[in-house]
Amino acid sequence: MALRQIRIMGDSKLEKVCRPVKEMTPRLKELIYDMLDTMYDANGVGLAAPQVGILKRIVVIDIGDGPLILVNPELLEASGEQTGQEGCLSLPGQAGIVTRPNHVKIRAYDENMQEFELEAEELLARAICHELDHLEGIMYVRHVEGELFEVTAEEEEDESAAEE
Ligand code: NI
Repeated sequence: MALRQIRIMGDSKLEKVCRPVKEMTPRLKELIYDMLDTMYDANGVGLAAPQVGILKRIVVIDIGDGPLILVNPELLEASGEQTGQEGCLSLPGQAGIVTRPNHVKIRAYDENMQEFELEAEELLARAICHELDHLEGIMYVRHVEGELFEVTAEEEEDESAAEE
């Protein structure tokens, strides 16, 4: 298990557009497994490669249903709306209200570069949208309605579902 350092908002890596993965390498697989370790260690439900300083289109998510690895994810469809609390491991202790699509369909590759499609709703759809934004250099604060608010460590534990 190897933990990577999570970049905090203000770090220039979080503001850059990420490059597609052209081929899977042992080094990138190691990155993916390190990202999962880092996400679980931080009680998050999602982590994008730029959050650990790597400008590649790689995302990991686990909303409690097991790990989901998205390489070169692409949004195919988005519909509906959900409004709720969102946080980010790159902005610890804070949260905000964000409206996202309630349903998304994506295409991505897994860690073996096998292509797949996935439809997601509610929290998983929110997590996917949040993480795909990271690949474009966009933090969720850009979408926040009203002010950011502080959440305590205990609330973060309870609301860990919203920490991406
Ligand atoms: Ni985030």
